[in-house]
Amino acid sequence: MNKYQKLDYEYHFPLYNRYPITLERGEGSNVWDTDGNKYLDALSGIAVNSLGHNHPSIIKAIVDQAPKMMHASNFFSTPQLAELSELFCKTTNMDKVFFCNSGAEATEGAVKVARKYQYKNGKENCDIISMENSFHGRTIATIAMGKEKYQEGFHPMPNGFVKAKLNDIEDLRSKINNKTGAIIIETIQGEGGVQLADINYLKEVRSICTEHDILLILDEVQCGIGRTGFFFAYEIADIRPDIVCTAKGIAAGFPMGAVAAIEKVASAMQPGNHGTTFGGGPLASAVAIATINEITSGNFLATVKENGEYFLKKLNTEIGSNPFVKNIRGRGLMVGVELSKDSKPVVLKMLDKKVIANSTSDVVVRIVPPLIFTKNDIDKVVEVLKQSINEIYN
Ligand SMILES: Cc1ncc(COP(=O)(O)O)c(C=O)c1O
Repeated sequence: MNKYQKLDYEYHFPLYNRYPITLERGEGSNVWDTDGNKYLDALSGIAVNSLGHNHPSIIKAIVDQAPKMMHASNFFSTPQLAELSELFCKTTNMDKVFFCNSGAEATEGAVKVARKYQYKNGKENCDIISMENSFHGRTIATIAMGKEKYQEGFHPMPNGFVKAKLNDIEDLRSKINNKTGAIIIETIQGEGGVQLADINYLKEVRSICTEHDILLILDEVQCGIGRTGFFFAYEIADIRPDIVCTAKGIAAGFPMGAVAAIEKVASAMQPGNHGTTFGGGPLASAVAIATINEITSGNFLATVKENGEYFLKKLNTEIGSNPFVKNIRGRGLMVGVELSKDSKPVVLKMLDKKVIANSTSDVVVRIVPPLIFTKNDIDKVVEVLKQSINEIYN
């Protein structure tokens, strides 16, 4: 253990199985540890550093805004928050947005918005249907919507949450009744092992929701903000949710989350119904403006899409027939390689070889690199993954 790991071990809650290195700085798609070793970052802080590290537009936004004002409180509008709200809504075709600080705040906020809307329309105490194997955050309400594994030791769970199987429309129909207020789905499950909601499933859920005045909430905390080559991953299904939640990449590493909704839903929320001290502060807002401008400029998204397709093809060619590779899936730069065995040793072997990825759902190697990743970077990840699987399991 180095001196930082010792301090961390001694003073921080023992919540994380940390990697055996201490990161110090980053540049583009590379990071360096405190011993000066360079790594290719194929994880981007779990889909957060969307523009890589030390991006000039992000640094400029921080340097320009920090001396002017970092925090104003929500008693005041600020130019940055007002401009970001317009930019976000115009970019996403949502009508109104609320900014918070994290993904869990966004998904929990979405539950509040949905319940308030249904309450105002005469459906009190409504249920929220979420998907098995999903992840929406670590607060009490968001763990109630997620995998049972994260609930252990934290009971009682709040009432009003019901589970359905992803991509099983009949199971979903069987769970819907007159108490159902909203259905929340990750368009692509991230922590659940990069599991994609089928395009037809999303379309069908949309029409069921419309038919029964149930709100469709899409959780795009991990898969949104350009990651799939679309601003939001659901765009591929040509649908519009009633509420969308996002966070992670929205401010390229600066903490921010957002809940956006269509007009009739957003207008159910009135002064005093919800709030946050830090959310939508001028510094975070300035960084989010810079991020969204980069991601929506030129052929940024088209390149993410093209590189994502290249990535899947390359993985299939190089390791598709490996007996320990069960499945390769993903969209854009959100990729999961499911192994027939524990993926943790493989990820640690990759780290030895100076490529950062992560193991999720026990058997999946998850790769969510910065969106600026190049084909050369992809080649390197595939090569190192191939070698690592071979060295660990063959
Ligand atoms: C889909 C999804 N929703 C919500 C969250 C929670 O976000 P946060 O950790 O910022 O609270 C995550 C985090 O991984 C996520 O992947």
